Amino acid sequence: MRKLIVAGNWKMNTTVPEGVALAKAVAEKAAEVPANVQLIVAPPHTHLVSVAEALKGSKVALSAQNCADHDKGAYTGEISVGMLVSAACEYTILGHSERRQYYGETDAKLVDKVRLALDAGLKVILCVGENLDEREAGKHFEVVTAQTVNVLSHFSAGDMAKIVIAYEPVWAIGTGKTATAEQAEEIHACIRKVLADQFGAKVADDTTILYGGSCKPSNAKELFAQPDIDGGLIGGAALKAEDFIEIAKSF
Ligand code: 13P
Repeated sequence: MRKLIVAGNWKMNTTVPEGVALAKAVAEKAAEVPANVQLIVAPPHTHLVSVAEALKGSKVALSAQNCADHDKGAYTGEISVGMLVSAACEYTILGHSERRQYYGETDAKLVDKVRLALDAGLKVILCVGENLDEREAGKHFEVVTAQTVNVLSHFSAGDMAKIVIAYEPVWAIGTGKTATAEQAEEIHACIRKVLADQFGAKVADDTTILYGGSCKPSNAKELFAQPDIDGGLIGGAALKAEDFIEIAKSF
């Protein structure tokens, strides 16, 4: 049985005290969420140590939003996987469309980052997703397949036990425009087929694939009811503990 996950990507929001308060509120409400659902929060790097403290003893796991593509050295402003592990991170998000779009993150760079993260003992939430032009040109299957294969062809079936995939159509992120359950499901099924072709049916079946993009309490139920959607990567709605928890109760 694959893991169900609801992860909150806080992006560049909240100060440290606000983040700690949010994490505490999520941790307090986590008991309302079914035991088989893993909750994760991904605050900004500056918050990790304090948020880890706030989450202690709860069922909420900690994730970073990114990591460096080198393990240490003269890379001013970067945060290494070792630093994330030492700050009690269990996961890191990688390849978010905002990193690809604004910071030139390429699939090749992602291969290095995923390798470093796995070697350091982190689990990875690898994001894929097409933009509006690609969707309108009917290229969404092709784009998402290529993003998935370009990175995962460098990894083994064993590595997949530590990798979660998040499908986030760029046109649905922060726009209020959610992919319909049908649009999301057909891409999730496509990703699972790509995994089956590369790693076999068992790995494909065991891999958690999350949906992200304007997911909120009002649409989570329909999305999570789809056979290939195993939870969500939540942006805006993760900044309110009640909404985040409500989403996690939608399975
Ligand atoms: P929104 O939920 O704000 O659309 O963001 C989704 C996202 O990018 C999560 O990583």
